[in-house]
Amino acid sequence: MDTRPIGFFDSGLGGLSVLKSTLALLPREDYIYFGDNLNAPYGDKSIQEITRLTLEGADLLISHGVKAIVLACNTATGSCINQIRERLSLPVISVEPAIKPACKSPEEGQVLMLATAATVRLPRYRALVSRMPDPARVISIPCPGLVDRIEQGLFNPSDYEDILERHLKQYHGLAVSGIVLGCTHYPFIGDIIKAYAQRHFSGSCTLYDGSEGTARQLERVLIKKGLDNGNGSGKVTFLTSGDRDRCLPLYETFMKKQHIL
Ligand code: DGL
Repeated sequence: MDTRPIGFFDSGLGGLSVLKSTLALLPREDYIYFGDNLNAPYGDKSIQEITRLTLEGADLLISHGVKAIVLACNTATGSCINQIRERLSLPVISVEPAIKPACKSPEEGQVLMLATAATVRLPRYRALVSRMPDPARVISIPCPGLVDRIEQGLFNPSDYEDILERHLKQYHGLAVSGIVLGCTHYPFIGDIIKAYAQRHFSGSCTLYDGSEGTARQLERVLIKKGLDNGNGSGKVTFLTSGDRDRCLPLYETFMKKQHIL
């Protein structure tokens, strides 16, 4: 039994999608969430910059006494998960774009993987795709612009039409069995992405994200290392590098928002 909180890290609000899945699975733990809203989005930055910011975020969480860290950010994971694990002595759990379950679907059709520009060019992601039974089935699509708008708390389909059009127009008419939300921000506009996809692609366009898998992995690691808590209350403390008056109401809105998959 270890009553210390679990630390969550993301460039901003996206990691809340992972935190919410974790709260559903592990309600008797407590949490500290740090969103680096001041520096979001990470997806357009260099790997060195993303690594520096992620290491600083991890250090901040450690200074608050966390027992484990969830890197609830695909971009940070792809950039520096190995370095973080080498440097820190506590368990670090990471997210992975859910292309494996998407590629298992027996339905005919492509798998579209939407993520930040950094994630899709990083070797860690490229290696993951190459391990799929049919790597050519996966079309990796960088989607710059989406995170900036999600960070503003915009949730109307019209707020995203131009960006989705820009990144997805060339694929209109394709048979699409699955769409992987390879950035933890995207589940918050999962309904908008799904509706857009159903208008422009054939196939079921089933959405996949990695948050439940990450929550389950966290549970396994805590139990294995004897770090689990049965006495917590699901309390979450939010820390942000951004303007607290602007960001904290957004944290509350995102925690209440249904992210539809
Ligand atoms: N939510 C993050 C991810 O999963 C980072 C998005 C960004 O800051 O660009 O990739």
